[in-house]
Amino acid sequence: MEYTELGRTGVKVSRIGLGAWQFSEAWGLTDYRAARAVVERALSHGINFFDTAMVYGLGMSETFLGGALREAGAKRDEIVVSTKIPGEFLNPGDVFRAIEKSLKNLGFDYVDVLLAHWPPCWHNFPTCEYARAMEKLVHLGKVNYLGLSDYPVELVESFRSCLAREDVQVLQLRYNLAERWAEKAHIPYAEKYKMTVQAWSPIAKGALTGKYEPGKLEFQDVRSREPIFHPENYSKVWELVKLLRQVGEKYGKKPVQVALNWLVVSSPVVIPIPGAKSPEQVDDIVGAVGWRLSYSDWKLLEEASRRLEISYSVLYVEKETKIK
Ligand SMILES: NC(=O)c1ccc[n+]([C@@H]2O[C@H](COP(=O)([O-])OP(=O)(O)OC[C@H]3O[C@@H](n4cnc5c(N)ncnc54)[C@H](OP(=O)(O)O)[C@@H]3O)[C@@H](O)[C@H]2O)c1
Repeated sequence: MEYTELGRTGVKVSRIGLGAWQFSEAWGLTDYRAARAVVERALSHGINFFDTAMVYGLGMSETFLGGALREAGAKRDEIVVSTKIPGEFLNPGDVFRAIEKSLKNLGFDYVDVLLAHWPPCWHNFPTCEYARAMEKLVHLGKVNYLGLSDYPVELVESFRSCLAREDVQVLQLRYNLAERWAEKAHIPYAEKYKMTVQAWSPIAKGALTGKYEPGKLEFQDVRSREPIFHPENYSKVWELVKLLRQVGEKYGKKPVQVALNWLVVSSPVVIPIPGAKSPEQVDDIVGAVGWRLSYSDWKLLEEASRRLEISYSVLYVEKETKIK
């Protein structure tokens, strides 16, 4: 396993992490034993960076992840766990209440990274109110480092200006070969300030793995209404998958591994956090690091994916409501 530094903290994290949203009804992995097998395999490969959130199965993901890490005998100071507090809980009272529950779910005394999961867009909580509450958790020893997920750069700046002693060490963003908006403002910003970028949906919820053939897409999970799998978008993604397969053959790698390696090669601050539902998927994810795409292959994928534009309004645009 390759390792890198978490933000500017001096803490060692694996070059690829593991997302734990999969341990919830949204993704269908609701059996603790199955989740434990995934976490055990990740640890056995040297993955030490894990991501969860309060809203993932409303605590199921945190509970399964914490339980599996403990049962596997992971040393607390050798693993780094991020969890996220949703925008709706970002008033100071709920910040304290929610972190207590989160720590109980995880079975931890402290959480390594606490991120605001998304801005409190419907609740009018002033940024400095919750920024200071989150900073207070660091001073009180309940949280080690702070992060922001799905925040525009302008709001990251604003949040940082509210902090007295701490700083933002982690940004969490949607980032994969087919969805590259994070490169416009966020990644240059994170590189400038040496913040870690946890890339979420780094394999586009499975779209970049090549296992879902166009015309045969039927999901019973969170993907049933995911725009990337809409035929209009997916037909374009499939062309990219074909290229991933072609490039992967040169290296003896699967499309999923090439797609993840491309992210790792693209920026030193990006750490993909793919979700896995089986130990075998973890094996694939681990095989995405420890090697590098050549410059020409990186560029081939860069150019092919730059032309790809995903529409997020597809379901709305195609729907017709008839007045009777
Ligand atoms: N901050 C945020 O707003 C936010 C949003 C989303 C996610 N996240 C975090 O990011 C993590 C990952 O994102 P994600 O879950 O959206 O999507 P993802 O990692 O892009 O895709 C995960 C899915 O891909 C499939 N897969 C994984 N490894 C595979 C392999 N080797 N071969 C074939 N298929 C494979 C699995 O589903 P199937 O086997 O069923 O196809 C898995 O559930 C989450 O767990 C969560 O921690 C954060």
